[in-house]
Amino acid sequence: MTDQSEHVLALRPIGFVSSPYQSTAEVPKGLGAKHGTEGILNILPQFAEGLADIEGFSHLFVIWAFDRSKGFELLGIPPSDNRQHGVFATRSPRRPNPLGLTVVELLRREGALLRVRGIDMLDGTPILDIKPYLSSIPEQTLRRGWLAEAEARQKG
Ligand SMILES: C[S@@+](CC[C@H](N)C(=O)[O-])C[C@H]1O[C@@H](n2cnc3c(N)ncnc32)[C@H](O)[C@@H]1O
Repeated sequence: MTDQSEHVLALRPIGFVSSPYQSTAEVPKGLGAKHGTEGILNILPQFAEGLADIEGFSHLFVIWAFDRSKGFELLGIPPSDNRQHGVFATRSPRRPNPLGLTVVELLRREGALLRVRGIDMLDGTPILDIKPYLSSIPEQTLRRGWLAEAEARQKG
């Protein structure tokens, strides 16, 4: 029987991020961190046709690779708390599959280039996929787990 965790998937970048952030220390972190930074999603020419009709969406999911993270830890203390949490309950860059997910606001499209607001990626980060952001979950049914508790402790 094969070990299913050895099942390797190959992914290729569809483009790269242009960001003002050159190092992880420059990216705002922790509770209340604001992500209003503007950047560019540069889509490779061979995938540009896939951007057809994207202008109609105000926000996008960007799936990308933490290409400068090393290894992973299953338990860690995130910058927004002083308590330990499981990696799958956090947005840590040090995860078994180093995939990042960021919701950005689409400001405008210029050919194969998307100007966006809300990036938290380093300059040159590989983009793996883009999807329209559509949230159908009413706010009153969303639970924010340990993050809500950490926020309440900070206020209290
Ligand atoms: C907490 S993660 C959250 C990223 C994304 N919004 C998510 O939820 O998957 C954001 C941090 O990832 C780090 N980061 C950004 N781009 C990276 C890259 N290309 N490689 C490794 N780490 C990166 C920065 O330190 C940034 O503060």
